[in-house]
Amino acid sequence: MGFPYTRMRRLRQSASMRRLVGQVQLTAADFVYPLFVCPGTQLKVPIDSMAGCFHFSVDRVIEEAKAVAALGIPAVLLFGLPDKKDAVGSEAWSADSAVCRAAGAIKQAVPELVVMTDVCLCAYTDHGHCGLLKDGRVDNDGTLELLAKTAVAHARAGADVVAPSDMMDGRVLWIRRALDEAGLTDTVILSYAAKFASAFYGPFRHAAGSAPGKGDRKSYQMAPDGGTQALREIALDIEEGADMVMVKPALAYLDILHQAKDRFDVPLAAYNVSGEYMMIHAAAQQGLCDLQQTMLETLLAIKRAGADFIITYFAKAAAEIVNR
Ligand code: PBG
Repeated sequence: MGFPYTRMRRLRQSASMRRLVGQVQLTAADFVYPLFVCPGTQLKVPIDSMAGCFHFSVDRVIEEAKAVAALGIPAVLLFGLPDKKDAVGSEAWSADSAVCRAAGAIKQAVPELVVMTDVCLCAYTDHGHCGLLKDGRVDNDGTLELLAKTAVAHARAGADVVAPSDMMDGRVLWIRRALDEAGLTDTVILSYAAKFASAFYGPFRHAAGSAPGKGDRKSYQMAPDGGTQALREIALDIEEGADMVMVKPALAYLDILHQAKDRFDVPLAAYNVSGEYMMIHAAAQQGLCDLQQTMLETLLAIKRAGADFIITYFAKAAAEIVNR
């Protein structure tokens, strides 16, 4: 029975009717807020490439963490800048790194906040690759021990969740084993399982000073033109012991997110990355679209596609709106 008996607009006639039949709703509990921490004290330095984002010294990140928790956002994801970089990225696993100190300080000041840490070498190596270089190539197996040490350092410092983002084969297994051997059996692993070699990381690499000096990340991050590898990567990471998995970036990979949701029974994260964030900011800045509406529509799309939670620089702004 089509028109005129069926009228789809009946269910759209008032705001309350539309709310009643709405299916996906954003809440503050859907979000994880990324925070950039750096050496030094009394620093809250705006990041030019990422509107509204800052590098915080450890003493200043606490007030930010409190503000995030007060909005009902359950978790933060820490990224760090090192004091100095070297060929192997040794500050990554130092107990004195900004990330380790921030993890401890935040857990002490805001114990209810879940602290996640990004586990990778790219911000700590002088060549900017996510793994060790051997004869000019990224050495998978040599990198695993370093990632495992980094994850253990973060967990010892207080991180509840370690999130390896390097895309080396076998790193989840290495990290799980190292955590368990260190008695850190409750530390959760969120694997950046399906991470693509994406141009959308541009603003972040500027912020983290982590662009590869030579070459690109295509030998470890996935090519955007295939989904089968992504599902296999996720399956392998779950087998290796990942408690939660991620698809990254989000917007250009909603199909992968949707397939992963259908196929796997572990919590699924989507990373709404820096380029996706800044595209919307740039368009809004030019008056081309409304910032809040575009933000909410985007986050809704990511949730509708299947994300259980969304790592997003919009977390605070979006929580403020959805909490009203
Ligand atoms: C580190 C890492 C990157 C991002 C998160 N962790 C950059 C990269 O892989 O080059 C990107 C996050 C963003 O763009 O918001 N490996």
